[in-house]
Amino acid sequence: MPDSVTITDNRTGESFEIPIVDGGVDASEWRNNLPGLWFLDPGFTTTASTESAITELDGANGILRYRGYPIEQLAEHSTFLEVCYLLINGELPNQQQLDKWIYDVTHHTFIHENMRKRFYEGFHYDAHPMGMLVSAIAALSTFYPEAKNIEDPINRLIQINRLISKGPTLAAMAYRASIGMPFVYPDNELNYAENFLSMMWKIAEPRYIPDPVLSRALDVLLILHADHEQNCSTTALRVIGSSHADPYSSVAGATAGLYGPRHGGANEAVIHMLRDIGSYENVESFIETVKGGDGRLMGFGHRVYKAYDPRARIVKDHAEEVFKVTGKNPLLDIALKLEEIALEDDYFKSRNLYPNVDFYTGLIYQAMNFPMDMFTVLFAIGRMPGWLAHWNEAIEANVRISRPRQVYVGPSERNYVPVSERD
Ligand code: CMC
Repeated sequence: MPDSVTITDNRTGESFEIPIVDGGVDASEWRNNLPGLWFLDPGFTTTASTESAITELDGANGILRYRGYPIEQLAEHSTFLEVCYLLINGELPNQQQLDKWIYDVTHHTFIHENMRKRFYEGFHYDAHPMGMLVSAIAALSTFYPEAKNIEDPINRLIQINRLISKGPTLAAMAYRASIGMPFVYPDNELNYAENFLSMMWKIAEPRYIPDPVLSRALDVLLILHADHEQNCSTTALRVIGSSHADPYSSVAGATAGLYGPRHGGANEAVIHMLRDIGSYENVESFIETVKGGDGRLMGFGHRVYKAYDPRARIVKDHAEEVFKVTGKNPLLDIALKLEEIALEDDYFKSRNLYPNVDFYTGLIYQAMNFPMDMFTVLFAIGRMPGWLAHWNEAIEANVRISRPRQVYVGPSERNYVPVSERD
């Protein structure tokens, strides 16, 4: 049997054959043979928008690999900065490369004082940290105008280094601004996760050193969020980047995509849901409400995973370690009961709805004292290397500008009527 599909245009009786390559068909063959006949694919459920060598996601079997390495192995043995290097460069670093990379990231964590004094101070006192982060990342492009020179690979790596270095600084500043606390400068003696926790929580002590269990748990959570192929925010980034916007503007657009409750905002929505449920006894009636079409079980379901999200399993294991240090999050029992019932229920089983990464992350963040409106910010820090790896890959491949078509369903031509003559 040939590995191809044959399409017959019943209007003309003409047929053409398209080879199947890597599990897909080249849509340009369709366009060349059937000009003007569009695929209608809202939400891109059947469209592969690009070729990519970064992340392999097999949703049917619950498999996630960065550059070929299983997420389980990276979460157990690697660090977030090593994973950043892997995603961006395609290979794990040797010791010398790793040392240099860590040094470079650690020594670019400071941001221009105007950002702190003039930019952050301009926000309203209760501004959401994600709104601040989106704007702050975009504002960085004005401090690095040379970032526009996207054709130069060395220049691209400098901007990638800066964004990974400064992400936690911008994020912690957004939090400190939102609670009216003075900004804490980065501490180059600490590792990536420790430094972020220091910028979040340090008060008057000479040096803030977090509990190693908590900083390691945070590092693992960042690894789990580091990339997830063509999700909403990464697709937004690739679309913006295809116009050759600078990387700061492209990443700001991706961060905005992450903000919504259907994407990066789901971890916050999970905590709201668990609080609304209120107690263990209310779980069954809540599930019935969802099945009746009123609301969704937040932290459940995924466009690609039709099996248990492998990241959710790792998060669940780490939750236990974190709770040994912080004490158990009282919402955990409600979450466990929800999962237990949903996994046995036909409504969820028949739709392949399993916990996704967001189901348990919020519980950990909350136990670590992060306020809810910082949850998506944490996701953004983690996703930064993935966004940048995709941006770099797309620029290197010189992809065409994104410009989908539409199927027009509005009124056909009609004549303008002066306002005095309208009903
Ligand atoms: N609770 C209850 N029913 C659901 C849920 C849910 N969480 N998710 C999907 N369904 C139902 C949906 O009602 C539909 O049922 P029916 O066929 O009877 O109309 C069916 O499952 C298919 O849903 P869909 O909306 O067509 O699926 P989608 O692929 O467009 O949406 C999703 C994916 C993640 C937006 C959706 O599952 C959802 O809203 N989940 C809750 C929000 C959430 O946890 N988001 C985090 C995603 S993981 C983090 C990330 O990678 O960004």
